[in-house]
Amino acid sequence: MAMVSTSLTPASQLSGHKSAAGSPPLFSGLRRSSKLDSASLSTTQSFFQSVNSHIRICSPSTRPCRGIVAMAGTGKFFVGGNWKCNGTKDSIKQLVSDLNSATLEPDVDVVVGPPFVYIDQVKSSLTDRIEIAAQNSWIGKGGAFTGEISAEQLTDIGCKWVILGHSERRHVIGEDDQFIGKKAAYALGQNLGVIACIGELLEEREAGKTFEVCFKQLKAYADAVPSWDNIVIAYEPVWAIGTGKVASPEQAQEVHVAVRDWLAKNVSAEVASKTRIIYGGSVNAGNSAELAKKEDIDGFLVGGASLKGSDFATIINSVTAKKVAA
Ligand code: PGA
Repeated sequence: MAMVSTSLTPASQLSGHKSAAGSPPLFSGLRRSSKLDSASLSTTQSFFQSVNSHIRICSPSTRPCRGIVAMAGTGKFFVGGNWKCNGTKDSIKQLVSDLNSATLEPDVDVVVGPPFVYIDQVKSSLTDRIEIAAQNSWIGKGGAFTGEISAEQLTDIGCKWVILGHSERRHVIGEDDQFIGKKAAYALGQNLGVIACIGELLEEREAGKTFEVCFKQLKAYADAVPSWDNIVIAYEPVWAIGTGKVASPEQAQEVHVAVRDWLAKNVSAEVASKTRIIYGGSVNAGNSAELAKKEDIDGFLVGGASLKGSDFATIINSVTAKKVAA
């Protein structure tokens, strides 16, 4: 497994809203930002500081206790499988059978995105434990739009989610930020949840523009959508998608915390806390647990590895890496 290492401005430098050392956080869901000088702390203080840095700050009055503690956000772990343009009736029958017999951790929202033509087959054979996502939807109401699928049709056939803004739609098909934002708004209006993808190209990362690109894509969603209630953000660096070059847990965490900070500053503290920010790009059964340990990684969007039921189940069950050992 290759790792790409190109540096970014530390996300902490972008964080203007966090609290001072010793103060309570401004809102639950983001960890404390300031590091105390360990030389000035007693052993006991150092111990508790260390524990605190690994456990999310929990406000019992605002979040349910789910037994998962290494999460900065308050949302439930979320894993989506993006099957892209893959599969046949037979291969999908096998994949569904493997998923139906897999043992999945209960504390995870699980979604799969089959190609449109197989949605009905999957919907009628897959366990209700797993919800269905479409991989795209039209910008508005259906009608004379050859080749398109409307949000109304997706809900009619039992879809609960739609993946929008995926890099393959942005960079291969040519969809722009505003078009994607409008699609998101329309889909939400039809009661679909939206997996809203963002992510930078390799040259953008190398030019130091990762945050700029991601924030611009986020802003297009924010400008268009009436509410973030049914949105999951998928950070998918384009250089990591389908390449085997997964982002390191630190690289992913750095962008996730910056995205959460952006939401706090530009939308609201509550939205920043409760919106799931999932990572996508060469996630597999071997690397998901290390990624899942990062506190701002609230799940995954998985391409290639979601086509193997056992691997996808392992990725779903990596939620256990978030649980602090008793
Ligand atoms: P990958 O794809 O896991 O095959 O890299 C992820 C995605 O495109 O969502």
